[in-house]
Amino acid sequence: MGFRSDFLWGGAVAAHQLEGSWNEDGKGISIADVMTAGANGVPRRITDGVVEGENYPNHEAIDFYHHYKEDIAMMAEMGFKCFRTSIAWTRIFPNGDDKEPNEAGLQFYDNLFDECLKYGIQPVVTLCHFELPYHLVTEYGGFRNRKCIDFFVKFAKTCFERYKKKVKYWMTFNEINNQADYTQHNLLQESGILLKDGDNPEKLMYQAAHYELVASAMAVKAGHVINPDFMIGCMISMCPVYPATCNPEDVMCSVGAMHQKYWFADVHVRGYYPAYMEKLFERKNYKLDRTEEDMRILKEGAVDYIAFSYYMSMAVKNKENNAAFDYNNNSYVRNEYVDVSDWGWPIDSMGLRYALNWFYDRYQIPMMVVENGLGAYDKKMPDDTVDDYYRIDYLKNHIAAMRDAVNMDGVDLLGYTMWAPIDIVSASTGEMDKRYGFIYVDKNNAGEGTLKRSKKKSFYWYKKVIETNGQEL
Ligand code: BG6
Repeated sequence: MGFRSDFLWGGAVAAHQLEGSWNEDGKGISIADVMTAGANGVPRRITDGVVEGENYPNHEAIDFYHHYKEDIAMMAEMGFKCFRTSIAWTRIFPNGDDKEPNEAGLQFYDNLFDECLKYGIQPVVTLCHFELPYHLVTEYGGFRNRKCIDFFVKFAKTCFERYKKKVKYWMTFNEINNQADYTQHNLLQESGILLKDGDNPEKLMYQAAHYELVASAMAVKAGHVINPDFMIGCMISMCPVYPATCNPEDVMCSVGAMHQKYWFADVHVRGYYPAYMEKLFERKNYKLDRTEEDMRILKEGAVDYIAFSYYMSMAVKNKENNAAFDYNNNSYVRNEYVDVSDWGWPIDSMGLRYALNWFYDRYQIPMMVVENGLGAYDKKMPDDTVDDYYRIDYLKNHIAAMRDAVNMDGVDLLGYTMWAPIDIVSASTGEMDKRYGFIYVDKNNAGEGTLKRSKKKSFYWYKKVIETNGQEL
């Protein structure tokens, strides 16, 4: 009973949130480089290129680019079996449409992966984690343009070829389904889209997501030719949507909300659009550019496993006069049964077991939990430690729920990479003070600090968890 003996324990990060060196060694500008620092409850702004005098937290981040040896050594000390990170697209193809890759960028990831492998840590790699080249946004309109499929596939193939002996587990687009709400922030992060007057953001999102799904399927197929042992997955942001009550209307409404958020997974895994999406396109009269060739590609490029992030669950109530249970006509409500974090994110460990069951009932393929963690305000003590018992509590409860899903429900789980083993820049707010790490980094929201790394209490706790393969929590 318990996790498999080769269970992949580790941690997850994304290049733009920790590397820094935004314009070093030939790196181009990515969409993360034009996002300013926000704050708790204050959204980040998107500037027109890099503007002098603005505060861009990703430009330096925690300078992992120069500290990676020290940081990987600390992860090795915790006993990591794997380390999930992304390859910054703009280190490899600075503009996205370049003819040749940038050798200095490729070399950086060779060095990083070698450093991991030296300690027996497997790199687990996301190809596109909110890191589109900014040039693709300004010149092509991001994934509103079919041409981006080829740019992505070229990038993916270049990485597969270069690292085929060093990386086995890959994922294509991070949290591809975040854009289901088609807000400007998420459309830019996922698809490189800046909205213009006259755009229908919802339709645009469906079109861009279609191109990304085709690009992902093409990458999966190409990757299997390059190395048949590759495991190439999708990456879904999973926040299960519960009905707020057992009123059948709320229950049906939650089915609709789940469709809206998770149709992306249906296409990734099954290789075709679910009937409810075809009906939705019909109802809305959305005639998307989806060719027969695309449909064939989707079938041939179904993913090998499902990687997903899990932070929270949600609850939904049907709105009056929503007899058709149509999307976007429901209300998300506070779930009284669960607490929330300082950033208002519901804390629901049981929801992780629910999510694992939901995926496994639906698809029966292996899964990996590639993000799960608590963003919190940490207080450093005079002796340089942090007593982050709240983080230990959060992770303990979630790992216990995951263990139940394995032991009692029999789900097929490959690994767990908590987010994020070291404090990094928050993706949604750009803050440093929204900390997730086992390793504290001395830097604040204003960008001040020595960047010195120190171990929190949770560092020693997670080491024990890995040592006992999740038996001792
Ligand atoms: C996920 C992203 O949505 O959540 C990460 O894949 C992100 O990039 C993480 O950092 C936590 O969100 P935040 O906004 O607290 O950094």
